[in-house]
Amino acid sequence: MAPYIEFRDVSKVYRQGETKATALKEVSLIVEQGEFCAIVGPSGAGKTTILNILGGIDRRSSGTVTVDGEEITRYNERRLASYRRNSVGFVFQFYNLIPNLTALENVELAAEVCKRPASPRAMLDAVELSHRMNSFPSQLSGGEQQRVAIARALVKNPKLLLCDEPTGALDEATGIQILSLLQKTSEDSGMTVVLITHNNDITELAQKVITVRNGQIDSLVKNLSPRKAEDLAT
Ligand SMILES: Nc1ncnc2c1ncn2[C@@H]1O[C@H](COP(=O)(O)OP(=O)(O)OP(=O)(O)O)[C@@H](O)[C@H]1O
Ligand SMILES: [Mg+2]
Repeated sequence: MAPYIEFRDVSKVYRQGETKATALKEVSLIVEQGEFCAIVGPSGAGKTTILNILGGIDRRSSGTVTVDGEEITRYNERRLASYRRNSVGFVFQFYNLIPNLTALENVELAAEVCKRPASPRAMLDAVELSHRMNSFPSQLSGGEQQRVAIARALVKNPKLLLCDEPTGALDEATGIQILSLLQKTSEDSGMTVVLITHNNDITELAQKVITVRNGQIDSLVKNLSPRKAEDLAT
């Protein structure tokens, strides 16, 4: 069977006037359906660039990206928008919540525009924010905003969840609780998770760890006995 996600020789060059910055150089990688996959590597290595291309937020300069049997790199803007809306849940490095909407309204907005949403209130409950539903992002801590962003991504019941440092702003206990939620959702619904992290503990949860360095894949290692998030506390 074909892999769920395949990057083949994907390059990304950013142009700023005369200067060019190569963020990715012929990156090839595979992620299987339902896999919990971690991307690691130093700052500036190209991790977010990979995630943005996979999520249809950015376009590659060359190469092909296939997701669920479809070459998303051939999509026009309209199909790419529908792919982003219906198939992908995205948790950004800097949350990207809408400032003049409450926590609940941020999650509801995502639910309204997709095909098979879960309940926004139940999702906020799952990230333990029922009591802050009516707060605006500016009234929430960084960790609380991150949890709203995770609820917003999961409310779409996405087939693919992409997370850029999802626990960076969370204390250890809350981080473990969120990872446990992501891991369980992945196991129960077959959701594929690709998650960027600097935390070595999190790489122990992953079924595959992809190391990126200087815009290239340094290694791609399968973990045959990943740990359970809830066991990280012990
Ligand atoms: N819009 C852009 N214009 C120009 N260069 C960019 C742009 N976005 C990223 N880059 C460059 O591409 C390279 C990879 O950036 P990327 O954001 O993917 O790194 P990263 O691995 O996510 O780093 P970090 O861990 O700091 O988030 C960097 O050298 C960065 O400066
Ligand atoms: Mg990044």
